[in-house]
Amino acid sequence: MQAIISKTIEFVKATLAGAEAGHDWFHIERVYKTAQTINAIEKGDELIVALAALLHDIADSKFNGGDEEIGPQKAGDFLKSIDVAEPIIVQVQQIIKNLSFKASFGTLTFASKELDIVQDADRLDAIGAIGIARAFTYGGYKNRVLYDPAIAPKLNMTKEEYKNTTAPTITHFYEKLLLLKDLMKTQTGKAMAEKRHQFMLDYLEQFYAEWEGRA
Ligand code: ADP
Ligand code: NI
Repeated sequence: MQAIISKTIEFVKATLAGAEAGHDWFHIERVYKTAQTINAIEKGDELIVALAALLHDIADSKFNGGDEEIGPQKAGDFLKSIDVAEPIIVQVQQIIKNLSFKASFGTLTFASKELDIVQDADRLDAIGAIGIARAFTYGGYKNRVLYDPAIAPKLNMTKEEYKNTTAPTITHFYEKLLLLKDLMKTQTGKAMAEKRHQFMLDYLEQFYAEWEGRA
């Protein structure tokens, strides 16, 4: 099993060389480690969790004309080339296919404990201290302002309300980051998300205080 994982790590590192910061090797490494932390308690299949975590962003559909099939295809071809058993390949491909945030709103045709674990790990990387860093990295890349009091989002806004407040990076917390803790699937993931969620709430409070020169 270790040989398969090592080969997969090398493949992913090579494939993601030059990827943008949100989905670079370090994102994969964090998701892989977090998935292992969750799996130590949730007890899914170790190899499937590892392979799915490592290969989950191998071809982000956003950068491939929205084609959701390229990632699973690439992952499958690679795993076949290193002689991984077919049933494992199929599971890993299904997980990759079902992983995106959007997939959770669509009709899910596949469910597994390993999917839940890797999905939780991927979502955990979008919240907490790392999540905040990733959001501002993305905002900087898009040339967005940090925050604009004229289009200030608030906690507990409805989808309709925040739809019109797209530009500042702070808005992203309200449209996505603060919603993720309720989408966690595993008990372990939920507990980890709780802590990271609270960290973001504390962060926002401090952010607004500093914005007003009050802290
Ligand atoms: P995922 O890998 O979970 O599908 P995305 O590709 O949508 O996530 O985003 C990658 C990273 O960039 C995540 O940490 C996400 O929170 C962040 N991000 C995405 N959209 C925005 C946005 N509009 N403003 C700030 N950060 C964003
Ligand atoms: Ni990811």
